[in-house]
Amino acid sequence: MNPIASPSSSPADHSEPASSSLEGRVAIVTGAGSRTADIGNGRAAAILLARRGARVLLLDIELDAARATEQTITAEGGQAMALACDVSQAEACREAVQAAVRAWGRVDILVNNVGIGGPAGNAVDLDEQEWDRALRINVTSMMLMAKHAIPEMRKVGRGAIVNIASVAGLMGGTPALLYPTSKGAVVNMTRAMAAHHGTEGIRVNCVAPGMVYTPMVAGRMTPEVREERRKRSLLQTEGSGWDVGHAVAYLASDEARWVTGVVLPVDAGATAGKAPSPGLTPDKAEAKAG
Ligand SMILES: NC(=O)c1ccc[n+]([C@@H]2O[C@H](COP(=O)([O-])OP(=O)(O)OC[C@H]3O[C@@H](n4cnc5c(N)ncnc54)[C@H](O)[C@@H]3O)[C@@H](O)[C@H]2O)c1
Repeated sequence: MNPIASPSSSPADHSEPASSSLEGRVAIVTGAGSRTADIGNGRAAAILLARRGARVLLLDIELDAARATEQTITAEGGQAMALACDVSQAEACREAVQAAVRAWGRVDILVNNVGIGGPAGNAVDLDEQEWDRALRINVTSMMLMAKHAIPEMRKVGRGAIVNIASVAGLMGGTPALLYPTSKGAVVNMTRAMAAHHGTEGIRVNCVAPGMVYTPMVAGRMTPEVREERRKRSLLQTEGSGWDVGHAVAYLASDEARWVTGVVLPVDAGATAGKAPSPGLTPDKAEAKAG
């Protein structure tokens, strides 16, 4: 008998730990390009899924951006295919899933990564048309991709969906109204979908990145703001797309086979609390009583 095997309480328990390998799996990553040559969350996730052995369909509204990710993956010996796709369009989402099935016969993993900053402003001054457009890109697109991917996962008998939210969806304090509203919706869409599809073996989880430094934000801040963002966490170090990508790869793999409906902050502790501030002096009344 294996001395380190844990006692088995049901036939589903395995004595061997689950594998991190994604060999034989097919993944779809939305927003798998990046607006510059640098590493965004979607690009990092796609590369890390491919390194684990998945064949990855790379969707992006900017085909060249997805192609750059494809080149990185194929140069490393992985398998990937770039496809132009606007995930806010229902028919484009259906066609993208079908492209994966045509190429590789199945869909195991969906990473809903596309997200935009959306309109600035509070309820009084934001642009209503931009509000509708951004909600469609940040929230509706994830439903549309899931709508077409889940039937393919059912055929496989299991699946993993990872939605990218943001710590802005967990807390107040973001100056604009659209972005935190849409990311809050992604958080609870994750839980609702996890409940709908759990018995089908389809896990649905969410990564909530903190102040990572990616092309999405790089062009929009001064060095001072960058430094201030870094300090807004417990670790006080700057994160990158790779940090988000590693969390996605874990949630997509069998290592997370018992994990669903989770919202995983990847934020250097920003949502856990503030760095310790000077404590109170000892309570004199307590000292007397003692
Ligand atoms: N960067 C951060 O600090 C941060 C923090 C929290 C959450 N996030 C989230 O991470 C996700 C990715 O962010 P990123 O920093 O990697 O961004 P990015 O801008 O580098 O990459 C996003 C990609 O999505 C593509 N895209 C945009 N609209 C699309 C559409 N309609 N259809 C298909 N593709 C489209 C873009 O062309 C781009 O290549 C987003 O959901 C974002 O909200 C980012």
